[in-house]
This record gives sequence, structure tokens and C-alpha cells, in this order.
Amino acid sequence: MPRHFLRDDDLDPAEQNAVLDLADQLKADPLGSDALSGPRLVAVIFEKNSTRTRFSFEAGVAQLGGHAMVVDGRAMQLGREETLEDTARVLSGYADAVVWRTFAQARMDSFAGVSRVPVINALTDEFHPCQVLADLQTIRQRKGTLAGLTLTYLGDGANNMAHSLLLGGVTAGLHVRIAAPEGFHPMPWVLDLVRRRAAETGGSVGVFSDPVEAVDGADVLATDSWTSMGQETDGKDRVGPFRPFQVSTQLLGRTGKDDTIVLHDLPAHRGWEITDEVIDGPASAVWDEAENRLHAQKALLVWLLGR
Ligand code: CP
Ligand code: NVA
Repeated sequence: MPRHFLRDDDLDPAEQNAVLDLADQLKADPLGSDALSGPRLVAVIFEKNSTRTRFSFEAGVAQLGGHAMVVDGRAMQLGREETLEDTARVLSGYADAVVWRTFAQARMDSFAGVSRVPVINALTDEFHPCQVLADLQTIRQRKGTLAGLTLTYLGDGANNMAHSLLLGGVTAGLHVRIAAPEGFHPMPWVLDLVRRRAAETGGSVGVFSDPVEAVDGADVLATDSWTSMGQETDGKDRVGPFRPFQVSTQLLGRTGKDDTIVLHDLPAHRGWEITDEVIDGPASAVWDEAENRLHAQKALLVWLLGR
């Protein structure tokens, strides 16, 4: 059975740490590994829009000496009547790994269940684990450590970023707080997974409806779009209830720390979940975070395919 990376807890704490170490090495020496020479083929499939994930995987595979086949999933037979499982069986005969952005996590699980090559989750409705590897690399570079730090995520607590920051964050021993309006708190089954992982690592989870209480003492603030891809017409008010959760200079000032850093996975909706002043200001680690997608995903590919 191949190893997959479908959710943040597919790496145990030691494995996550090893991938982050490798990501730092590859950041220092981007052409220092030819682990995918041959060239090994990576199928990269998108059923939703992407800028960072698309370009960072294509660049990363090329830098490792491999070849990425980047395809719009909506143009595949997958977009007509072919099943996920049949697609996975066929792609396993051509590619050495499949990177896939899709909707429900259940689709990812079904695909991986029959794939003979590693499958990497490039974002589902429920998780975005590649982004969180880059986020952890960024925090560790800025703070020198991960375990014991407090990260507060503000926004939609039931989306892919909230869930992955929870699960990936506690794997690294972080204290992760989610600040979200009522009705947008994390899914209970994800919280169960997070609590189990936190019990192994010394991390912790907290869910808040009051943003000011949630940011008190935070080393890292993180946010994301209030409306994720696919939620544009879900009929929920994704503006009014979220306004108090905007990452602004005023809220940043309520952490009580002068070295709190700010993350946003991007794309940002300036003036909504984050202000221009914060994203362009001295606390922002956002551009480094975006660059680290490249290094963290290269490390993940080397780790998965080098096994
Ligand atoms: N953060 C992120 O995944 O960006 P893209 O949607 O542009 O890939
Ligand atoms: N939560 C966002 C993340 C985008 C990278 C979305 O799913 O649209």
C-alpha cells in the first residue's frame, strides 16, 4: 500500500518534523535534490481554481528533476461519467504520484483507496494539509520552535483551513484556538481527531465565539476567506457575522504580545477577513508563507516517493 497525504494526521509528529526539516534544507538549496529524476511523473489535477498550489507543485517537481502533468479535472472524463476509482486505476499506471484538488474529502478517500501510487490532497472542502505544512515551516522559521506556541485562527471554523490548522497544528504540539461565529465552529468529528492527536503531543484545542478572548496571548494569528470555493451559493450570511473576526491592527493589538505574526493562506479578500494595513504590515509573514508552499511540497514529495 502506498503512503498517502490526505489529511494532516497522515503524518505522525516525528514524520511531520522530518518533512519540515527537509523543507528547510530544500529552501536553503532549492536544486539540492534530484529525487524525482528519471523523470518521475506527478499528475496534478484541479477541480477548483488555484494559483499557488498549481505553480508551486509544477515548479517543485521540475526542480526535483521530475515532470508534472497539470490537468484541469473538469476537462477529464472524470468531469463526465467516469468513476473516481476507474480514474485512479488508470492514472496509477502512468504516474508516480497524484496531487488532486477536489470537493468532498470522501472523493479523495475513495480515489486513494484504489490508487497504487501516493495521493496528495491539494485541498478538499474539509482539509488543506499542504498549506499547513507551509504554515508550520513559516512559524518555525520565525519563532524557532512550534510546540507550546499559541495559534489563533479567525474566520470560518468549519472550513478546510480551520480543520487543517487544528489537525496539523496539534500534531506539531501547538495550542490551536478557533475563533468563529456561532454556526461556523469546527465539525465535531474533526475535533475528535484533533483531541486524540493533541493528547499524544501536548498540544490543545480551544473553540471561541469571542475574537478578543481568542487572540489574548497568541503568538500567531491566521485567517482565510469567509467564503470558500463551492460555498458561494450556500445561502449563509458569510459577511455580517464575520465582521468582528477581521484581522485588523486593533485586533492584532489585543494579543498582548509585540511579536505576534500573521498568516493568510491566500487569496486574500482585503478589507474583509484582513486589512491592507495588517497584510502589508510588519507582522505579516504571508509572502514567506506562500513561498514555503514550494519548499514544503517538495519535501513531502521527496519523503513520500523516496520511501
Ligand atoms: N493557498 C492556496 O491554496 O492558494 P491557491 O488556491 O491559489 O492554490
Ligand atoms: N478556504 C479556501 C482556501 C483557498 C486556498 C477555499 O477553500 O476556497
